[in-house]
Amino acid sequence: MAGRSAPRGGMSRRSAIRPGRTRLVWVETPANPMWEITDLVAVCELAHAAGARVAVDNTVATPVHTRPLELGADLVVHSATKYLNGHSDVLAGAVLTARRDPLWERIRSWRRNVGAVLGPFEAWLPSAWHADPVLAGWACLQ
Ligand SMILES: Cc1ncc(COP(=O)(O)O)c(C=O)c1O
Repeated sequence: MAGRSAPRGGMSRRSAIRPGRTRLVWVETPANPMWEITDLVAVCELAHAAGARVAVDNTVATPVHTRPLELGADLVVHSATKYLNGHSDVLAGAVLTARRDPLWERIRSWRRNVGAVLGPFEAWLPSAWHADPVLAGWACLQ
């Protein structure tokens, strides 16, 4: 697998996606370290037209601010270690897919057979703070 970083800007993003060759476009928005925002609808349209899937790292935005699946993304990942939990007391993450398709089956199979599984206490920790508006994002994912 080869990876390429897309230069910033609409046209350069367009040229970074190679129809028939690019299989996955990975977007982090807002992106480290300058909190740059990516137009997810535009990127999803470009990627899908080229036959690529779009995965969005929604760690910073949390589902409170952005719901990438509703904007066309195929996959969403979260590090729950950060804002989703908010108290730096849990090491966790989440992967969401737009559809229960073969890719979802492969991810599910990997998680079941070789992935780490969150312990009950760690799963409870982020949901223990539902009164916090940011942490309500964890409830959105469950
Ligand atoms: C935007 C973003 N996504 C994912 C990660 C990885 O998180 P974790 O350390 O929980 O695997 C980081 C870590 O800094 C991050 O900043």
